[in-house]
Amino acid sequence: MTEAAGLVPKRILVTGGTGLVGKAIEKVVADGEGRPDEEWIFVSSRDADLTNAAETKALFEQHKPTHVIHLAAMVGGLFKNIRYNLDFWRRNIHINDNVLHSAYETGVQKVVSCLSTCIFPDKTTYPIDETMIHNGPPHSSNFGYSYAKRMIDIQNRGYFEQHGCRFTAVIPTNVFGPHDNFNIEDGHVLPGLIHKVYLAKQTGSALTVWGTGKPRRQFIYSLDLARLFLWVLREYDEVEPIILSVGEEDEVSIREAAEAIVEAMDFRGELLFDTTKADGQFKKTASNAKLRRYLPGFQFTPFRQAVKETCTWFSTNYANARK
Ligand SMILES: NC(=O)c1ccc[n+]([C@@H]2O[C@H](COP(=O)([O-])OP(=O)(O)OC[C@H]3O[C@@H](n4cnc5c(N)ncnc54)[C@H](OP(=O)(O)O)[C@@H]3O)[C@@H](O)[C@H]2O)c1
Repeated sequence: MTEAAGLVPKRILVTGGTGLVGKAIEKVVADGEGRPDEEWIFVSSRDADLTNAAETKALFEQHKPTHVIHLAAMVGGLFKNIRYNLDFWRRNIHINDNVLHSAYETGVQKVVSCLSTCIFPDKTTYPIDETMIHNGPPHSSNFGYSYAKRMIDIQNRGYFEQHGCRFTAVIPTNVFGPHDNFNIEDGHVLPGLIHKVYLAKQTGSALTVWGTGKPRRQFIYSLDLARLFLWVLREYDEVEPIILSVGEEDEVSIREAAEAIVEAMDFRGELLFDTTKADGQFKKTASNAKLRRYLPGFQFTPFRQAVKETCTWFSTNYANARK
């Protein structure tokens, strides 16, 4: 029907489709942002192990996507990164090379991959912008993940210069929302804190935040990021990456994030800080000026509302949540 109407249908393959960001894109598409000329295919490691070149190629030959949103990655919080830098480097390098090369070989028109603001140089000026990715070593805590992610940008440039491919990348800040990894040891700070508050409430104990609570972060709600992903896929034409973030003025300390969760979950216990635990990078304030030039009117969900929705989702789905 769409072909008869003159529209060329798109087959959009989403790698990492079962993760935090993939699930958010699936929801936004299902809730009405999808278009009639788009067919969405969400895949996970059960469909193909993307560290394996043959499995990756077979996946692309099976689905024949015209467009790809590439989210699949080994992902984790500060403490998992510190322990497994080598694994983060090797797995992500293999996944990214397999996906981008299969996309090239099967004639995919556009790939949108996912970098992260935690891959930027440790010693830098603020705010960080898209031109500064390669300007110096990343923070030592996550060098494996960071260098692997930075190489996506190098590959995108290479595929464009040698083959004219429209492969690009987005750079989100810290993402959170339903379907996150709420594991306290291995997950990111916000879902880890939500899980800790949940348990502290159950046991009537204090909430212990790891580190001083002073580091500052910009958090983006996964459903806001999902809407921005659709825009990038459809409208953004540059090979150069784009930061997807709330404004610099919306950066919050880990203490403020913990307080938002405490309020959302109505936790009445004591709030403690274990300063023997690492803080990670103090801040990585990113500029969303480029995004704002393209989309001046984009409305982000207010932080406290997004935290509340995520806490409610976690409490409601506790039995099946990743933890
Ligand atoms: N979370 C953040 O704060 C954040 C911030 C900035 C950027 N990002 C980036 O955003 C993207 C999505 O992150 P996320 O938080 O949604 O991750 P996530 O919840 O951990 O999900 C990871 C996804 O990747 C898939 N995957 C992992 N290893 C794979 C493999 N070897 N083969 C095939 N699939 C594999 C997983 O499949 P299974 O379910 O089968 O394991 C899952 O669908 C990543 O590229 C990440 O680097 C995340």
